[in-house]
Amino acid sequence: MHITWLMVLKNWVTGWVDWNMVLDPIGGPNWVGNLVDAPILVSNTTDEFEKQPMYYALGHLAKFIVPGSVMIRVNTSGITNTTNIDVIAALTPSGQKVVVINNKYIESNAHTYQVSIINKQGGVINLSLEQRSFTTIVYND
Ligand SMILES: *[C@@H]1O[C@H](CO)[C@@H](O)[C@H](O)[C@H]1NC(C)=O
Ligand SMILES: *[C@@H]1O[C@H](CO)[C@@H](O)[C@H](O)[C@H]1NC(C)=O
Ligand SMILES: *[C@@H]1O[C@H](CO)[C@@H](O)[C@H](O)[C@H]1NC(C)=O
Ligand SMILES: *[C@@H]1O[C@H](CO)[C@@H](O)[C@H](O)[C@H]1NC(C)=O
Repeated sequence: MHITWLMVLKNWVTGWVDWNMVLDPIGGPNWVGNLVDAPILVSNTTDEFEKQPMYYALGHLAKFIVPGSVMIRVNTSGITNTTNIDVIAALTPSGQKVVVINNKYIESNAHTYQVSIINKQGGVINLSLEQRSFTTIVYND
């Protein structure tokens, strides 16, 4: 799922509606019993709701890549092995650059990675990407 979000944004997608945004505590209702996860699970017996990890993952894109943003190229030539790492960048209408990095969920192959993000002026941010994580950086050039 998380892999899909970044992949589609790199391939001209302009909007995304998640199936589903909100479900009950067991991932329903669903008439064929196809119970799935959702960003928010709402109790059908109390006033409570629960934000799932997916809610926060989706936020890395939905909160920072605001409407009117355009995707911009990331030079990933320094990444020798992109099996676990996916990265996208966007320019927002207010001129901020947003870089979202996903250290992907790979069942038998989770790693922590050290990466450097270098902007056009040569400014460097070094980051440690935790296993199975999203990291978002927002900056002005
Ligand atoms: C709440 O949802 C569960 C799972 O779908 C269902 O078994 C239960 O009957 C529901 N309870 C009420 C009060 O609707
Ligand atoms: C990408 O960055 C590398 C240095 O890491 C540089 O040699 C190369 O020219 C850059 N490519 C483009 C298209 O800017
Ligand atoms: C790339 O990284 C993945 C995950 O660590 C590993 O399974 C794969 O063998 C690596 N590929 C190369 C060409 O090093
Ligand atoms: C970032 O990491 C690179 C490579 O390890 C290192 O050469 C550089 O000094 C670091 N820069 C900063 C600002 O930490």
